Amino acid sequence: MTRVEIHPFAEEHLEGAGRVLAERHRRHREAEPLLPPAFEDPVVAGEAVGEAARADDASGAVATRGGEVVGYLLGAPKASPSWGANAWVESAGHAVLEPETARELYAVAATRWVDQGRTAHYVLLPSYDDALVRAWFRLAFGHQHTHAIQAPPTEVPPPAPGLTVRRPVRADIPDLARLEAVLPQHQALAPTFSSGPLGSYEESLAEWEEDFEDPSYTTFVVEHEGQIVGSAVGCALEKSSMHAGPARPENAAFLGFAAVSPEARGLGAGRAVGDAVSAWATAAGYDSVVTDWRETNLLSSRAWRGIGYRDTFTRVHRLVGH
Ligand SMILES: CC(C)(COP(=O)(O)OP(=O)(O)OC[C@H]1O[C@@H](n2cnc3c(N)ncnc32)[C@H](O)[C@@H]1OP(=O)(O)O)[C@@H](O)C(=O)NCCC(=O)NCCS
Repeated sequence: MTRVEIHPFAEEHLEGAGRVLAERHRRHREAEPLLPPAFEDPVVAGEAVGEAARADDASGAVATRGGEVVGYLLGAPKASPSWGANAWVESAGHAVLEPETARELYAVAATRWVDQGRTAHYVLLPSYDDALVRAWFRLAFGHQHTHAIQAPPTEVPPPAPGLTVRRPVRADIPDLARLEAVLPQHQALAPTFSSGPLGSYEESLAEWEEDFEDPSYTTFVVEHEGQIVGSAVGCALEKSSMHAGPARPENAAFLGFAAVSPEARGLGAGRAVGDAVSAWATAAGYDSVVTDWRETNLLSSRAWRGIGYRDTFTRVHRLVGH
């Protein structure tokens, strides 16, 4: 068989890359039919690759065999300081016919990223493809984050005994603001060690006061022994820029936030508010519910799979130089 050749990615590769992404997405939808069908079309997939290639400071590599594109890898930096000096590969930024090709592609693409001082690398992979994820583990990447999906349920179980779920009223705003800090506080600890920003209680209070009536967000609170111990927020998936291209099913709802006070964890409060968001998504006519979590967050990685979310994309991360 002719050998795989690696070249810098160029405009002429878009069509072939679109075909490889469409094939990956076809296999992805066999594993998870709730993903958006449109990207099985090589033209639509090619447009998504084009967007990845045209992002500011994008660069990458393409693999060909006998002149045919058999894989590609395109990364671009994200501006937020919390990602470090980075190159980020989005859901349409990488597809290969053979997993091992990913390692060849990274060797070429990462040379440039590291030459530019971009040493924090993030790659969103289709979770169904164990062999591909393993190929990236063999590049010293680790599983950092997970995207997941579920069908809007026809029925959700009632909250565990002693728990009440309801929509909040304005008088609950101090509790909502307090709970907002719970997620970054938890994720700053081992083993997540996230550097996500910790806003102040006063800022959070002011935001809740201003946005409380915003119809684009639907909030639930859960009470235990007369106290609010948890909250969750649902919205349309479009509100999250992290879910784009093949990772953004049409007409999907998003479980965008959830937190339970440390002393009330493990009682079923997280499940109760998570289920409330799913039931809201069903009633509002959404076709799926999406969420995401840090894989190193022991609590959320167990809770959301526990209530029925199935992995769709696996984000792997590597910090070069150690
Ligand atoms: C994630 C979080 C909201 C879950 O809420 P919770 O009240 O602790 O979780 P629940 O008691 O409802 O448990 C939900 C499911 O998680 C799983 N689970 C909970 N604890 C677990 C454990 N120690 N081991 C394994 N699975 C566990 C179970 O599947 C459980 O379902 P079950 O009740 O049928 O057994 C809560 O732990 C939290 O606030 N964590 C910190 C902030 C955060 O991570 N927010 C989510 C960001 S994506």
